[in-house]
Amino acid sequence: MRDVAVIGVGMNKWGEIWEAAIRDLLAESVLLALDDAGIDSVEAMYIGCMSSGLFTHQEHLGSMGPDYAGICPTPGTRVESACASGGAAIRAGYMHVASGLADIVMVAGVEKMTDVDGGGATFALATAADQEYEVYNGVTFPGLYAMMANHHMNKYGTTRDQMAQVAVKNHLNGSKNPLAQFRMKVTLDQVKNSVMVSDPLTLLDCSPITDGSAAVVLCSMDKAKELSKKRLVKIIGSGHASDTIQLSQREDISYLKSTELAAKQALKMAGRKIADIDFAEVHDCFTIAEIMVIEALGIAEVGKGGKATTDGITAFDGKFPVNTSGGLKSKGHPVGATGVAQIVELTRQIRGDVEKDRQLKKANIGLAQNMGGSGGSSVVHILEGM
Ligand code: COA
Repeated sequence: MRDVAVIGVGMNKWGEIWEAAIRDLLAESVLLALDDAGIDSVEAMYIGCMSSGLFTHQEHLGSMGPDYAGICPTPGTRVESACASGGAAIRAGYMHVASGLADIVMVAGVEKMTDVDGGGATFALATAADQEYEVYNGVTFPGLYAMMANHHMNKYGTTRDQMAQVAVKNHLNGSKNPLAQFRMKVTLDQVKNSVMVSDPLTLLDCSPITDGSAAVVLCSMDKAKELSKKRLVKIIGSGHASDTIQLSQREDISYLKSTELAAKQALKMAGRKIADIDFAEVHDCFTIAEIMVIEALGIAEVGKGGKATTDGITAFDGKFPVNTSGGLKSKGHPVGATGVAQIVELTRQIRGDVEKDRQLKKANIGLAQNMGGSGGSSVVHILEGM
């Protein structure tokens, strides 16, 4: 397999975007990424998207993506793995270049979620859970994560304050990110006293409904050395694993096995340990998710993710900064775009070109963890600056 570098990144401002259609969102990030890479064509395109059919009645993004980005007849392929669609698309693009099939591949992610009302969005998102055994019985995604949270609280003594601290931290980080959807800072009390969604998770424990896109250009390392004038960022590890789609079939619903396994694969490929990683972007779709993810990655001991959070380990100036972008909680979560946007953030931090007040001092190796459903799929990538 050949070495693969990220040579271009792009992302639009996320939020509730009435003035743009899914095609506009997709094209904007793709053009930004092409511009950042200093090129105007690619050999193939992957598009991470969970549910454009239910959210916008538009399928066939494999044609619409290249068409509206003005890069036809580049072949396009949509990749779907629920909220891990973006991460899975990155992995598909990585394999395409690493295999030698192409030198330059575009990977985009997109979701336009606000063209339906709240009920429509909840319905579309719930298609990522088990329809017959979970959704039919009335459970939604906040409901599934609330069950995981209650189990974690009962088993390990994780507290409401510890979960709320994830939101406080990520909103603080997101307040400095001009592309984030919700840039307000929040306090522990505001999180705990916001409207109840699914006990114990309140509104401010949840990631929002978001319109947005992100794109990266992947390139073989040899070609990247010829083409790129920016610091090269190499993909040194890639891992992907699944778990049961249904929570009730898991041995332990307070542990994310697919994340542990995907991370182990990526770390093994990179020849690194978790302690070698400087920072991470992780899938905080609900505050409890970030606590469980940092445990599965080994950033915190199992059962101590909440304490690690309140101890400041994952804060911007902590030992292991997590979600410097604001994470899904503050930056937003246009589901198919999230995994690609994580790679955008890692690349910008490693290149040293995020806004000055949110640039990490040490950002040479970063990890991205993107998750589908209640952990039924996980994708992990590790990037290093050259
Ligand atoms: N964080 C912060 N503020 C939020 C928010 C969030 N997650 N969601 C909505 N808001 C704000 C809105 O901007 C709005 O503010 P305003 O009154 O000042 O305009 C207010 O809260 C109400 O917004 P609304 O859109 O009516 O909320 P809602 O009740 O329809 O939806 C949730 C709130 C939490 C139910 C919805 O965001 C949700 O389902 N989130 C989870 C998404 C999910 O499951 N993703 C997949 C994960 S695997």
